[in-house]
Amino acid sequence: MELLKKIVEAFGPSGREDEVREVIKNEIAPYVDEIKVDNMGNLICRKKGNGKKLMMAAHMDEIGIMVTHIDKNGFVRFAAVGGVYPQNCVHRAVKFENGTKGVISGEGKTAIRDWNADKMYVDIGAESYEEAAKMVAIGDMATFCSEFIVMGKKVSGKTMDDRVACYALLEAVKKIKECPNDFYAVFTTQEELGLRGAKVAAQVVEPDMAIAVDVSSVGDTPESNIVDLTLGKGPSVKIKDASYIISPQARDFMIKCANEAGIPYQLEAASFGGTDTGAIMLTGTGVPSATTSIPCRYIHSPQETVHLDDVENEIKFLVKMIETKV
Ligand code: CO
Ligand code: ZN
Repeated sequence: MELLKKIVEAFGPSGREDEVREVIKNEIAPYVDEIKVDNMGNLICRKKGNGKKLMMAAHMDEIGIMVTHIDKNGFVRFAAVGGVYPQNCVHRAVKFENGTKGVISGEGKTAIRDWNADKMYVDIGAESYEEAAKMVAIGDMATFCSEFIVMGKKVSGKTMDDRVACYALLEAVKKIKECPNDFYAVFTTQEELGLRGAKVAAQVVEPDMAIAVDVSSVGDTPESNIVDLTLGKGPSVKIKDASYIISPQARDFMIKCANEAGIPYQLEAASFGGTDTGAIMLTGTGVPSATTSIPCRYIHSPQETVHLDDVENEIKFLVKMIETKV
């Protein structure tokens, strides 16, 4: 749990994944044969094997905001970095890379339901442009600043999307006993801006099969939209989202692995969202690919919430796939 907390709390908006990468790199180093960082900042870790190339990918970046303007009274205007939903930002705390903290609010004359990035600002406590400009600069990024909390078998905090999957992939790598595939655990960058890191990582690795590990929205809270995914019932085999449709080879491989290892899983078909699979699948001559997700409540909020049983089952699922010949 301490390691999950550490990975979740690391600062890493899209394009500034350095801190997350350092934590993962130090943890994974004793368990892999090769580590490289490509020009996009993807962390590519190889465990050598004689078989085909199997790549798994989890994204390191989180959503955030970027300073675009500081007004004369010291209030900071910003642009969204990734899918920042105004309703999740109302009077929430954020933290910049240099430690400056602030509260997000919006223009008083505009109803909260009409807030968008243009109507919102960060109050960093400054009282003038001059004071604020000493604290933050144009282009600086901030991310949600929230508490990592344990609620029975559930945990909640910022960046479960997608650090809980980074954690699961890292833990899976630690447990590998046999390696029949040439295996690559890849921790990608800039997913939240449109799967940018994965696109390059897949060209570097040239996998024969790829599986992205991410989180997915659930339909198990009061009066929620109909989504056939529930916290605690196991990781998903994601059939589709807005970025891809599963490859038959990947689907058969995943379901065979889950059944053989007795891992509970949920079939998921989403009409929205995207994962690294959408980019990886379209590289080279095409890559048989799929996603497995850890069910998650309140995605892209400061308190993304997952079930620890799902995390454990995802780790077992990944280990089984890594140890099965593609
Ligand atoms: Co996301
Ligand atoms: Zn994600």
